[in-house]
Amino acid sequence: MKKNLRKTALLCLTLGLTLQVSIPGVAAAAGKSSSPTTETKLLNVAHRGASGHAPEHTIAAYELGEEMKGDYIEIDLQMTKDGHLIAMHDETVNRTTNGTGLVKEKTLEEIKELDAGSWFNEKYPEYAKEEYEGLQVPTLEEVFERFGRGADYYIETKSPDVYPGMEEKLLELLEEYKLTGVNGRSSHVIIQSFSQESLLKMHELNSQIPLVQLKSYRSPATITEEEIKEIKEYAVGVGPNFARIDKAYVEKVRENGLHIHPYTINEKDDLRKALEWGVTGVFTNFPDRFNEVLKEFKSGK
Ligand code: G3P
Ligand code: CA
Repeated sequence: MKKNLRKTALLCLTLGLTLQVSIPGVAAAAGKSSSPTTETKLLNVAHRGASGHAPEHTIAAYELGEEMKGDYIEIDLQMTKDGHLIAMHDETVNRTTNGTGLVKEKTLEEIKELDAGSWFNEKYPEYAKEEYEGLQVPTLEEVFERFGRGADYYIETKSPDVYPGMEEKLLELLEEYKLTGVNGRSSHVIIQSFSQESLLKMHELNSQIPLVQLKSYRSPATITEEEIKEIKEYAVGVGPNFARIDKAYVEKVRENGLHIHPYTINEKDDLRKALEWGVTGVFTNFPDRFNEVLKEFKSGK
């Protein structure tokens, strides 16, 4: 049974070679005809960096993601009162720093005073390191300065309705750091959002950037062909919550030529299951674990 599932998944990977969308391989943007990619790589996305091992959205977590051979650094964006894009998941600084309050009500200088590492040491003593104490919240620009074109970025526009102009600022920075390209191979970025409006805006600003529509479900998920057709107008893939999907969901998305990158998969059994279902990438806090599972899976163990 297990062998059959693996066979199906490997077949899906092979079928991926003929998909009309691709990722670096995510190639061309949606809504345009594109040559089939020569390679469909299973993406290992270091979710908030290697955030199972280090404080999320710090340079330390991103460096670890790179060391652990994650393919993409996942970054959630918020925007400060004075208009700087910063890497942070929540709209408030409460959970991941020693401060309190809304990001939109703080200047970058105020954000920079916060300790974004000590909370992790307290919450996860088994992964705690002294060097995490006092880590700062990075701006998106600092992340690009540090990793440049040597890395690939999977960036989420968070709460875009709270931050008018977020998409334009993001695009400005991507262009300044030469991270966008005319096709998947030269593009170093995928943009993701739960907000369709935000993705449509990005698509209008630059139709070459690969986009992924995030989906959140409260109960077991289904996706209709109409929904898929609509998503394909602007995006190359979907990112649903793994806990709500099944093999049929994955197959439907793939049969219709979209990538599927479920979030957030951390346990080895679940990572294996996702591979067997035929996903084309995963968001994980443990990129090292996913690589181990992937290696076993490919070797047929
Ligand atoms: O971006 C994929 C996944 O990260 C979406 O959930 O809440 O972790 O940003 P969240
Ligand atoms: Ca995210």
